[in-house]
Amino acid sequence: MAEPVLLRRVGHVDPTRLEDYLAWGGFEALRRALLRRPESIVDEVKASGLVGRGGAAFPTGVKWEAVARESRTPKYVVCNADESEPGTFKDRVLMEGDPFVLVEAMAIAGHAVGAEEGYIYVRGEYIRAYERIKNAVEEATRAGFLGDHILDSDVSFHVHVYRGAGAYVCGEETALFESIEGKRGQPRQKPPFPTTHGLFGRPTVINNVETLANIPPIVLHGPEWFRSLGPEDAPGPKLYSVSGAVNAPGVYEAPMSVTLRELIEEYAGGVRNGGRVQAVLVGGAAGTFLGPKELDVPMSFSGLRKVGAALGSGAVMVIDEQVDMWEVLLRLARFFAHESCGKCYPCQLGTQRQLEIVRRMASGRIRYQDILRLRDIQATMADASICGLGQTAGNAILSGLRVMGLDVS
Ligand SMILES: Cc1cc2nc3c(=O)[nH]c(=O)nc-3n(C[C@H](O)[C@H](O)[C@H](O)COP(=O)(O)O)c2cc1C
Ligand code: SF4
Repeated sequence: MAEPVLLRRVGHVDPTRLEDYLAWGGFEALRRALLRRPESIVDEVKASGLVGRGGAAFPTGVKWEAVARESRTPKYVVCNADESEPGTFKDRVLMEGDPFVLVEAMAIAGHAVGAEEGYIYVRGEYIRAYERIKNAVEEATRAGFLGDHILDSDVSFHVHVYRGAGAYVCGEETALFESIEGKRGQPRQKPPFPTTHGLFGRPTVINNVETLANIPPIVLHGPEWFRSLGPEDAPGPKLYSVSGAVNAPGVYEAPMSVTLRELIEEYAGGVRNGGRVQAVLVGGAAGTFLGPKELDVPMSFSGLRKVGAALGSGAVMVIDEQVDMWEVLLRLARFFAHESCGKCYPCQLGTQRQLEIVRRMASGRIRYQDILRLRDIQATMADASICGLGQTAGNAILSGLRVMGLDVS
């Protein structure tokens, strides 16, 4: 296993001490970035091939370039630290173990796109992460890495830390903006996109925690180095949250050439009690179940697409043969019915109908007509929902049925 990039400081530094971060090369990337033209930083992020790690897999440099080109000010940089996807806990490990890296990355992003204000939106349940991030922002401000005229330059950047209140949908970028603005956390229609109409209706870069953690190393070591860390179509390191029936659940860093089998057997110590894999949910609740015959799939965007799945946030939930799959599907259906924000009917009603049908099937009444109904609901939600929550709410259920041999194709 190669030397970690994203996790290299986690567990080795005191995350509350700025001195520790500095001793490990912290803020060197910001120092260098401040000596350079903003466009050259955007070009470098584009050349690195970094794509967002929050689930939508959008190229980060393209997003930054669009905001940099906007002449309207103020502009904002927002860090999506909501991490609400079930089975995902990688951002938590970064925030708790290496919080200063986020502060540094956001200041670099601010300089690159011409923003002077940043917001970090932390999942409500993540109390320790919130405390660590708040402390990092205060320490960095005191030491002159944030605030007016950072390190005596012309660049100013202030960071506000905000706590969510426990809604899955507030991880969706536009619902997150609404929440920061003090409104009900519901997604907006897109377009317009955040790059032109984001937080407070202004041009906004919004990135996931892990995406941002890649920025200082890219500035320090360059895009070629970053590209050399993974397969050609999926550069850079990736964090995988591995949970469920494995001997060593945890967050693992690997290049995206890693296979699902390697993650389970080599990184996470294999299936617990010498058991066998029944199914693996890849990408979280919004993701897809794969069966035991699909474990050799590379855990990259394109690798997973080939088997009809998506990498999403990099969650890997292992279900062994001891687990009742109906119970798992029922929980997922309950989750979506509970978390649907109700703004659009396909999702508001579809998630309720889906739950009723899964409940009926889980009680032992398995009818072909119900499988057809689930397919119909999934297709309607995918086509007609406003946001990704409804668009993906049927994926895990249908793929779970497929793995159970209830073929729905
Ligand atoms: C229902 C829903 C929940 C989401 N939750 C998160 C989340 O917790 N964290 C996150 O970074 N992105 C989440 N996203 C994706 C964001 O909308 C957005 O794509 C992401 O923050 C962009 O950052 P990136 O380009 O760095 O990935 C969610 C999307 C949806 C539809
Ligand atoms: S898809 Fe669901 S969560 Fe998204 S806006 Fe519609 S009702 Fe709300």
